[in-house]
Amino acid sequence: MPPPQRLPCRLHHKAKRLSQHHHPLHHDIQGEKTVQTAYTLDVLRKQIDTLAADGSTIGLVPTMGALHDGHLTLVRRAREMCDHVAVSIFVNPTQFGPGEDLDAYPRQLEADAAMLEAEGTAVLWAPNVAAMYPDGFVTNISVTGVSEGLCGADRPGHFDGVATVVCKLFNQVRPTHAFFGEKDFQQLAVIRAMARDLDLTHPHARSIIGVPTVREADGLAMSSRNRYLSDKDRGAAVTLPRAMKAAITRIEAGDDVAATLMAFQDELIGAGFTSVDYATLADSASLAPLAALEGRTARLIVAARIGGTRLIDNMPVS
Ligand code: PAF
Repeated sequence: MPPPQRLPCRLHHKAKRLSQHHHPLHHDIQGEKTVQTAYTLDVLRKQIDTLAADGSTIGLVPTMGALHDGHLTLVRRAREMCDHVAVSIFVNPTQFGPGEDLDAYPRQLEADAAMLEAEGTAVLWAPNVAAMYPDGFVTNISVTGVSEGLCGADRPGHFDGVATVVCKLFNQVRPTHAFFGEKDFQQLAVIRAMARDLDLTHPHARSIIGVPTVREADGLAMSSRNRYLSDKDRGAAVTLPRAMKAAITRIEAGDDVAATLMAFQDELIGAGFTSVDYATLADSASLAPLAALEGRTARLIVAARIGGTRLIDNMPVS
């Protein structure tokens, strides 16, 4: 992996050991840095216990790394609301289906660590797969209802993988607050349901905070997967948020929902998208599809593919 350009020297030497695939399991990175990296649960627990000993609040930002401004917005929000921030970076294999981008998923732990340090993160929890799923791991958390339509229909097992790893992360870090982007709107609904049903919201993850989607200047929702887009596809991808806004304006003005969504899909295909997995007007709480707005709080939720990359987005409709 090439060394990142702007990494401070002291961090750079240590960061060489930070590759998620190759890092030594029994090392942690201490010293003068703000962020302390833990690779084992024992080290993590000691760090968290020390930080929480005086009753301080701990905000957890779970991520799969390849951090961008969307993630850093979550970290900043966590810093505003909590005494200390812990960020987890773990590319969770159990939420990727066969043929999905698990191997290609960007991994850049040393650059991520530098960004987190600049944001004043206290703890970076970076387990490897063996630490997260030791031999003999047999537990699966499956949330019914909100996990079943939309991405759940296209990606069987995906939300089981998400719920299981997030439950583990809550138990490992024992945060008082946890922060998730609204860009993965269904994921947020699944995690809220799981935390409520498994009583994780007390004493851990007392509050689950959804943070509005951070967008590029042209409106495309930030995503670690945007880097897969060719220049041409990146140019066309902006049609997604633009056409969503236009469709929402029509729905809010009373146009027929089915006809509007059909025209929306045609617009995406016309702009160069290869397919639209779904484009749904959904109830904001239950995520049940709505044929008409009828005064409800709703969300337009979309997944569409361009040049082999699957993009998701959602926006409020009222
Ligand atoms: O949103 C993500 O990055 C992941 O789904 C999460 C919540 C970190 C679980 O692996």
